[in-house]
Order: sequence, then C-alpha cells, then structure tokens
Amino acid sequence: MTITVTPRHPALGAEVRGVDMRHPVEAQTVQAIRDAWTRHLVLVFPDQRISDPEHVAFTRNFGEPEIFHQTSLSLRSDRVKEIFLVSNVDEHDRLMQPSEPSQKQLSSSRQWHTDSSYRPMPSIGSLLHGIEISRTGGITQFINMYMVYDELPETLRRQVEGRRARHDFSMLHRLTGAPPPTAQEQAAMPPVWHPMVRRHPVSGKKSLYISSIYNDAIEGMDDSAARRLIEELSTFSAQPRYMYRHVWQPHDVLMWDNRCTVHAVTPHDPEERRVMHRTTIVGNESVVPA
Ligand code: OGA
Ligand code: MN
Repeated sequence: MTITVTPRHPALGAEVRGVDMRHPVEAQTVQAIRDAWTRHLVLVFPDQRISDPEHVAFTRNFGEPEIFHQTSLSLRSDRVKEIFLVSNVDEHDRLMQPSEPSQKQLSSSRQWHTDSSYRPMPSIGSLLHGIEISRTGGITQFINMYMVYDELPETLRRQVEGRRARHDFSMLHRLTGAPPPTAQEQAAMPPVWHPMVRRHPVSGKKSLYISSIYNDAIEGMDDSAARRLIEELSTFSAQPRYMYRHVWQPHDVLMWDNRCTVHAVTPHDPEERRVMHRTTIVGNESVVPA
C-alpha cells in the first residue's frame, strides 16, 4: 500500500490517503505514517468507518493505548476500555446536558491543552474518530509548538527557559466545576512537574510544553503570576500562522502528537449530537528537557 500525504496548512496538519484502518497495516505503511506524523504533527485520515476494536488495533501500531484512570464520570467506555468518550451522547444513546458532570469536565477541552500531560510520562499522541460530528461548531484546532517556541518573544522566552510547570489533573474540577476526583483518582494522579521547554525524542527539536487546563504552578513564581504567564503564552501561541483548524467530516480519524502540539475545540450547540471516540497512546519516557 502506498500512502499519499497532502498538507492542509503550512504550519501543521496533513491529509493521508491510502490507509484502511479496518485491516492490519503493513510495517512499511506504519513507517510511512510515522514519518508523515513526525513531519506534519497532525494527520487527517478521511473516511475511516472503523469499529472501536479496529480503532484500538490501529492505535497499537504506535504504542500502548491508555486506560483512562478516572471512572467516576463515565468518560471511559464500558464496552471497550481503551476508548475515551469525547461525546455529548452516553453509551445508552442519551443526549447529555452541559450541566452534567462529564460534560462540565469535557468543556475544559475548549482551552489549549495537550492530552494526559498530568501523567509522569505524558501521552505520545491521540487518535480521535469523529462518528457523529458537529455542524454548528466543534472545530478542533491545533498549534505547532515548535514554531511557537522558535518565535517566542525574548521576554517570554526568558521566563520559560529552564523552568518547570506543574500539571495537575484535579485542576479540571477547579476550572470547570466538575466534581472533584475521588480520593482514589487523586492518589492515582498526584501533580507532576514537567519542563516548559522540551526536546522531542524523535525529531530532536525543541518546543514549548504548557497547558491552560492542567498547569496550576510554575517554579519560582507565585501562582497568580504563573497563571498569567500561561495565559500570555497561550495567547501568543494561538495565532493563525501556527494553527490548523479541523472542520470535521463524518469518520475522519485525526492523529496528533501530544509532545509538540496543543489543541482546543470550539463551542457547538449542545442540542446537537456529537459523538467522538479517542484512543490515547501511553508515554514511554519522562519529558526530555531541552
Ligand atoms: C480530545 C479533545 C477535541 C474535540 O479529544 O482530546 O480535546 O474536538 N477534544 O472535542
Ligand atoms: Mn484533548
């Protein structure tokens, strides 16, 4: 199988044709996808009518799928435990209200973040399958954090160089009003510190590594100054020249690199069904400081 790779934006994002995720993919094709991923950071695979087990099997070409540690909000599928539900419809086909706990927590994904950065070894990448997509919004936006790092103004660069930020899963509750993690969930995910500038283990390039939804502290700064800095960095990052905005078609699968991109989804009408299933590739090393 030969794949074709067509960029969708000069900064990041490329469409990949010639892959059928319903079947095992040859080693050579997996390597071609890896190479395209290293280069384009976000890959779009149109028209993949896959089941959850096929989604998980395709993910395994790139690493071990994460099992979401939080079970109290039903964001983890009961049917296929490697699937994280980025949906406003539950597994009994009930449309959920924005006021429900799981939806409150998911609303955090409207702010810039990278998945599972609260883990000691954060996720490598995520694969999101758009099953029922939104027509009123729900655009998923991605930023190339290599470019952001390269072009950071000197005053910002000085503040992140050699510094670490704290990533705390329980910040979601403070941010969105979702219920606090249970004692067990809290014990499973204590806050962790990661360098704000990291080196990508495959490309060798440096990128900015921050999160608006998990960072609650920065070394050597008081917490309000830390929050202000994260906001300032996020605002600088969110410029169109660094950003690919993905307008979904049904059965697109997106595969993004969590090590060198951040993402955020735009709001959509909560009365409209949106059903998206995600796998998340487990990290296999600590964040490498630059
Ligand atoms: C995610 C996420 C984006 C979206 O799946 O990790 O942040 O489009 N969601 O809902
Ligand atoms: Mn996310």
